[in-house]
Amino acid sequence: MKPRVFVTRTIPEPGLEILRRHAEVEVWPGDEPPPYEVLRAKAAEADGLFTMVTDRVDRALLEAAPRLKVVSNMAVGYDNIDVGAATARGVAVCNTPGVLTDTTADFAFGLLMAVARRIVEADKFVRAGRWKAWGPMAFLGHDIHGATLGIVGLGRIGLGVAERARGFRMGVLYYDPIRRPEEEARLGLEYVGRLEELLPRCDFVSIHVPLTPETYHLIGEAQLRLMKPTAILVNTARGPIVDPRALYRALKEGWIAGAGLDVTEPEPIPPDDPLLTLDNVVITPHIASASYATRTRMAVLAAENLVAVLLGQPPKYCVNPEVLAGR
Ligand code: GLV
Repeated sequence: MKPRVFVTRTIPEPGLEILRRHAEVEVWPGDEPPPYEVLRAKAAEADGLFTMVTDRVDRALLEAAPRLKVVSNMAVGYDNIDVGAATARGVAVCNTPGVLTDTTADFAFGLLMAVARRIVEADKFVRAGRWKAWGPMAFLGHDIHGATLGIVGLGRIGLGVAERARGFRMGVLYYDPIRRPEEEARLGLEYVGRLEELLPRCDFVSIHVPLTPETYHLIGEAQLRLMKPTAILVNTARGPIVDPRALYRALKEGWIAGAGLDVTEPEPIPPDDPLLTLDNVVITPHIASASYATRTRMAVLAAENLVAVLLGQPPKYCVNPEVLAGR
């Protein structure tokens, strides 16, 4: 009998083809994620789960899933999964690093530019029929070239943003628990050992750390108050890294000039969230990796990871490889 795999959303076909070759595959048909109770019931009968960032895979779900061998997330981040509980039960957790790096870095840079040059606000102005004349003082924004960018978290995506910044002749600082001297030399980066030292020096701050208990609300009132009043914050990592109430006050009261958010806390952002009343913030619905090519690459990699575990082979990416050692 083929193993059973539950896929929590319609994914690019090449990913499904790989899964179907090796498993009985059920795909949740909705445009929205399966409700938690549904996911838990499906997990109870599955050998493999193919999940998204929107699917909560917690201890209770894992404990009610006796056959489950692998949870393969179609994402680089895996804060939606209780990895400790999965490891304790011998369930492998897989993710998709690498294939989305450039697409996500492109988007982070796009958000940075959109906020700095007020592109979304100006588009709304034109559509509202308010463009009456060219204006010498209209829609003044902030220059990107030559400005100082601070990267919080110099992993793959943070590095990708630093590479793009070079083309704009930006000065690039970074803060990370791990110093990377080779990348400093290659890209002319300056390491700043404390976030509190980096923030006051930057015209732009872009966040690229994973969400962990240590990074929850890493950017709160104290940090936002350290930034320049002309600075712009970009978050393409995870919403809860930034305290949204503090960010609202910062944007409303002018502690900083603007923000570009591809991720929010919570997600989706409720329609009555006060952030949505502000013109100096651009908010997109967690789409930084959403290019045709990259979403296909992510689906294929997540499917390959999942199938490898089911076949007893080493998956390309596993965040708790210790569970595979004993197999
Ligand atoms: C998306 O948010 C990802 O982690 O890949």
